[in-house]
Amino acid sequence: MSDPTAWDPPERPLARPWRGEPDRTGTVAVVGMGKIGLPLAAQYADAGWHVIGVDVVPAVVEGLNAGRVHFDEEPGLRERIVAAHAAGRFEATLAHAEAARRADVVVMIVPLMLSDEQEPDYRMIDPASESVGPGLRPGSLVIYETTLPVGDTRRRFGPLLERVSGLPLGDPEAGFLLAFSPERVYTGRVFRDLATYPKLVGGVDEASAARAEAFYRSVLRAEVWRLSSAEAAEFAKLAETTYRDVNIALANEFARYAERMGVDIAEVISGANSQPFSHIHQPGIGVGGHCIPVYPHFLISRAPELQIPELARRVNDGQVGHAVQELQRELGSLEGVPVLVLGLTYRENVKELAYSRAIPLIERLRFHGAEVWAYDPLMSAEEVERLGVRVWHWGEASPAQAIVVQTGAAEFRALDHAAFPGLRVVYDGRNTLRDVVRPEGVRYIGVGRGDGARAGRRLATAGRGAGQ
Ligand SMILES: NC(=O)c1ccc[n+]([C@@H]2O[C@H](COP(=O)([O-])OP(=O)(O)OC[C@H]3O[C@@H](n4cnc5c(N)ncnc54)[C@H](O)[C@@H]3O)[C@@H](O)[C@H]2O)c1
Repeated sequence: MSDPTAWDPPERPLARPWRGEPDRTGTVAVVGMGKIGLPLAAQYADAGWHVIGVDVVPAVVEGLNAGRVHFDEEPGLRERIVAAHAAGRFEATLAHAEAARRADVVVMIVPLMLSDEQEPDYRMIDPASESVGPGLRPGSLVIYETTLPVGDTRRRFGPLLERVSGLPLGDPEAGFLLAFSPERVYTGRVFRDLATYPKLVGGVDEASAARAEAFYRSVLRAEVWRLSSAEAAEFAKLAETTYRDVNIALANEFARYAERMGVDIAEVISGANSQPFSHIHQPGIGVGGHCIPVYPHFLISRAPELQIPELARRVNDGQVGHAVQELQRELGSLEGVPVLVLGLTYRENVKELAYSRAIPLIERLRFHGAEVWAYDPLMSAEEVERLGVRVWHWGEASPAQAIVVQTGAAEFRALDHAAFPGLRVVYDGRNTLRDVVRPEGVRYIGVGRGDGARAGRRLATAGRGAGQ
């Protein structure tokens, strides 16, 4: 199969200023040189644009200006940045306004967080917008790619940018242009996703939408879909991510029922999904990361009438408690019981602890008195220790009586059980170790993997017949 990321755009001269000409490139400032912003910068430079990367961390900017990337988990990133730097098409700076002044397009990709009260927390993206604003010129286009609550591009950032720039919105000659285009890529395969997913674009007005569409047609080979408003584009991103959270919640509820009924949920899901209208996702110990568990709250915080997203959040967050209950069912009290957690990041192959379900898992195990040990292939011993757990080193003898698998890291399948003489139970929170051979006497519990004994016990406890 041909490589979708292999793209050789035609050489196009740089326009100063660029006002949407398809046969010219321009200058783009990308604000936020993180896991998504830096690959975007690389993609735009690859397409022949001059790129100015903006960040607030001096070491990041210095490194980039020396042609070095500060993280290496994105396939294809290093080569693209090195090439763009060598070709003089990529530079980085701490000076937002200056970058905006030199740019035709400003792409904002600084995170919007969630507060402890589960409300959008603008502490990064507001200052980033305020710093960019003074550099805007008549005709500048600002595109927010950071996932936002519906309405924020027009109603929050529009007035903010008008205030700090002194320019009006809605006047394509004298003012600036403003659009929203959600970033839908998946870390670890950003360039493939940029090449293949339709790019959704919505403007606050016709001129903004047309310019943003022209920009993406110039920097991507994927289809560009213009939606009728910034709000529709904002909502589309929240809809696709909340859909996944809700779908996983349904899979998790089905999994619990499968456990009770002695049925294997994997079989149920593959059976159901053989019909083209069924797309049930996989159950697991929880949904982590700074996207899927976060974005439903952007919806819920503005639309309290939406009931299903909130319920789904509760179901998914409840999976950790369910896992601990399963251990208690097997082992009785967890007081003083050594438990090893395998995998601490929110998912395998991504070194990111944000919203990882390992954190509440550890808290809950400790609350019940367990002695928690942990290991993650992506984290150093010091990083693991900072979570307040004991560090287990791969391969060393362990007193663990229980193992909880929290990510689907491939190497966990090669675990040497001889190092665990006291092991009684493996709780497989990602259902990736099911076919691994374990010593006799070690019980395996997968999410939604009902077996006769387990289901029988539950049905007896519930005092219900198997047909219910
Ligand atoms: N990470 C993902 O998988 C993913 C996927 C799709 C969309 N997104 C969207 O991308 C956004 C960014 O995610 P990320 O993973 O790149 O975040 P990140 O934490 O990796 O990077 C954010 C960067 O922004 C910089 N920054 C903070 N304040 C700044 C400011 N005032 N000015 C300039 N730079 C500033 C930080 O120093 C950091 O380098 C998310 O909030 C989300 O909306 C992320």
